[in-house]
Amino acid sequence: MARMTGMNESRKLHVKSFGCQMNVYDSHRMADTLAPQGFIETTRPEDADLIILNTCHIREKAAEKVYSEIGRMRLLKQAAARDGRRMMIAVAGCVAQAEGEEILRRAPVVDIVVGSQNYHRLPELLARAKRDGRAFDTEFPIENKFDHLSSPSREATRARGVSAFVTVQEGCDKFCTFCVVPYTRGAEISRAVGNIVTEVERLADAGVREVTLIGQNVNAYHGEGPDGQPWTLGRLLAHIARTPGIVRLRYTTSHPCDVDDSLIAAHRDLEALMPQLHLPVQSGSDRILAAMNRRHTRADYLRAIERLRTARSDIAFTSDFIIGFPGETEDDFRASVSLVDEVGYTGAFSFKYSPRPGTPGAEMADQIPEAVKSERLQRLQEVIDRHRDAFNRNCVGRRFTILFEKPGRLPGQLVGRSPYLQPVQTMAPVASIGQIAEVLVNEAGSNSLFGALIPASIDRKESLLTATGA
Ligand code: 5AD
Ligand code: SF4
Repeated sequence: MARMTGMNESRKLHVKSFGCQMNVYDSHRMADTLAPQGFIETTRPEDADLIILNTCHIREKAAEKVYSEIGRMRLLKQAAARDGRRMMIAVAGCVAQAEGEEILRRAPVVDIVVGSQNYHRLPELLARAKRDGRAFDTEFPIENKFDHLSSPSREATRARGVSAFVTVQEGCDKFCTFCVVPYTRGAEISRAVGNIVTEVERLADAGVREVTLIGQNVNAYHGEGPDGQPWTLGRLLAHIARTPGIVRLRYTTSHPCDVDDSLIAAHRDLEALMPQLHLPVQSGSDRILAAMNRRHTRADYLRAIERLRTARSDIAFTSDFIIGFPGETEDDFRASVSLVDEVGYTGAFSFKYSPRPGTPGAEMADQIPEAVKSERLQRLQEVIDRHRDAFNRNCVGRRFTILFEKPGRLPGQLVGRSPYLQPVQTMAPVASIGQIAEVLVNEAGSNSLFGALIPASIDRKESLLTATGA
């Protein structure tokens, strides 16, 4: 390919992501922002000219993990220097946002610290670090960062497969008392509808068939629509569902208080919207929910679940639980266990409460001893696993539409996802990648299903391989 004059020599970039899908998405966008500077991604950190550690601050030991990772990168940087190469190390993400100055002080090997709101400034920071030795930016800018981020190139999109994440909302105004997100990601902002649609169309054009809209509080979405009015997430989903080529939609992560009528209507009306919803509850006890400032009761939560089930009878729920929040009694804990039984989650994450510096929870009296947290966590996980395994076993004998994503474990196998996000291993032709087909599930493990393709069901309208001109 011809290079434009004045463009930099090709350089190698390695991005390592920690934490949530928002960070994975941000890592892609950082790579896209640096592509015009001649940066090409590599999976081998030792070959990189620039390594970005995209960090997460949500739970314990995040900062320690970052420092030990920086320690490993220091060795690679020294080895590169011996070969006469300058390797730059950047720390991005929520730890950078929360502890940027501390990182620069403690880790001289770090060249750049960039907060989660400033990725569009990476090229400038890189130039500044080259000139001045180091560069630092963790300001919350007044301008909307969504306006600055470059859209992924067609090549970059294709390399990332048939399922893609699109950030539509960022930050949070809810201030749950355990959570750092409102501090590290800042106030809630939503991206304009037109901007999102352009990105989704581009992804579809590059062969993407499934889009997951992401945001820390995604169903608080209120971006500006083409009519100049704020649109709800339900309205946005209905609009995006019309994009040719996009056959599946999902969104994450939601707050129970923001499950509104338009979202329920979306679950009722949109075939493309998958019948699976991650709806974190954190606790089943009203006393703890109040102390967590969740702004809803157990009954409110169950009502939201009920309304969604009425709209879409096959919908399945997953959740997040925090164990051992300050003041949690055995009875409070049992209320979480009974909620798992009552909802019958198909999966859930459970975490020991970790006091995050600067959050109200960290200052609360009656912190729970580590041993109690561990013991409760184990009990809850057993109940969660029992429900997940029962759900997976119940899938045996059912037919699911599967979106094939990539080669599977064994030769001749492909792995795809069920509507419930379970990986499904099936013997299928490799040309089915990017297609939807029906699979009869004949075996269930705890993390994946196995099934037989129903050949006549392959959707031949668009093959990924032909659609992208490969
Ligand atoms: N301690 C433990 N878990 C936490 N989470 C968020 N903050 C904390 C904390 N301080 C969990 C919540 C949230 C998920 C992303 O991480 O369950 O939903
Ligand atoms: Fe954190 Fe979610 Fe609560 Fe916001 S709603 S403060 S992101 S847990």
